Amino acid sequence: MNAPVRLRPEIAALPAYRQGEQAAPDAFKLSSNENPFEPLPAVVDALRDAVAVNRYPDATAAGLRAALADKFGVTTDEVHVGAGSVSLLQQLVLAAAAPGDEVVYAWRSFEAYPGLVTVSGATSVQVPLREDGSHDLAAMAAAVGERTRLVIVCSPNNPTGTVVTTTEFEQFMSAVPDDLLVVLDEAYAEFVTDEHAVDGPSLTERHPNLVVLRTFSKAHGLAALRVGYAIGASSVLDAARSTAIPLAVTAQGQAAALASLAHEEELLARVDRIAVLRDQVWRALVDQGWEPPLAQGNFVWLPTGEHTAHAAEVFETHGLVVRAFAPEGLRVTIGEPESVERVLRAAQEVLGNTSV
Ligand SMILES: Cc1ncc(COP(=O)(O)O)c(C=O)c1O
Repeated sequence: MNAPVRLRPEIAALPAYRQGEQAAPDAFKLSSNENPFEPLPAVVDALRDAVAVNRYPDATAAGLRAALADKFGVTTDEVHVGAGSVSLLQQLVLAAAAPGDEVVYAWRSFEAYPGLVTVSGATSVQVPLREDGSHDLAAMAAAVGERTRLVIVCSPNNPTGTVVTTTEFEQFMSAVPDDLLVVLDEAYAEFVTDEHAVDGPSLTERHPNLVVLRTFSKAHGLAALRVGYAIGASSVLDAARSTAIPLAVTAQGQAAALASLAHEEELLARVDRIAVLRDQVWRALVDQGWEPPLAQGNFVWLPTGEHTAHAAEVFETHGLVVRAFAPEGLRVTIGEPESVERVLRAAQEVLGNTSV
């Protein structure tokens, strides 16, 4: 039904958020970069014990912030927790950018970026990825102007899986003004095995204009509980907090995240298994004749170009729900180990049918 109410035209024109499609019972859902593992037993226990649903949660997430501060060697003021890292990004965009301002980010990157910028009233400046799917940081630095209030760097980049190296990132940080907020979105950091990849938390002390975003949704497998965190200067995080909806991080989410952190070794063993599987899939795709970018998240990118819609259909006939970004490519999550054989069969079939 269409209601005749007056809305902000730029908001009304935004495409509605499209979640990775639900899979049929016998299909694998590889469209949202989720973790295939059930929660750790300690997380299930923590969730069961966090039963006081009649009480509001701790608005400051003090326990979780203290644990994160300890892990990263920063103060609790330099950690901010939100209902998913995407909500923290929204807070930072709102804190830094207003109508007339610009936000620079690579494209194609995480689908949420354009919408968040539009909601703030600012303007997106999208800098094309390089041929190999990686960020063109020199071009991004060159795109920074008088009106730029925020730059978002995504490493590993969703959906191409490429990382920004420490050297590239340091060059970028010295090329942009010290008073420009740079957000490094590291939602997939735990899956990274490339030793040259940037590691945000180790750089925030040297660069007070840098805020790093991480999440419990991916490696920790707590996507439904919505917990993400930011590390950066307390003054910037305070500004982000001022834009936040209070009490958005549930007690259950905080308890589960704390338990997951306390059992990180067990968790990282699972992450390792996914990374090993990812490398095997990537190698098998290369052997088939694909030229996928180096994958460092929990997903691979198939550059299917103009054949993307057809390729997604082929994957569907193999019982695989993947994310199609026509006319660029397909993003395929590394999910259940049993899905891998199907992924490779579908990829082979796409190659056989088309000239990608
Ligand atoms: C690059 C990137 N950043 C942030 C997020 C959002 O994660 P969260 O569940 O913490 O909001 C995602 C989720 O897909 C992502 O791919």
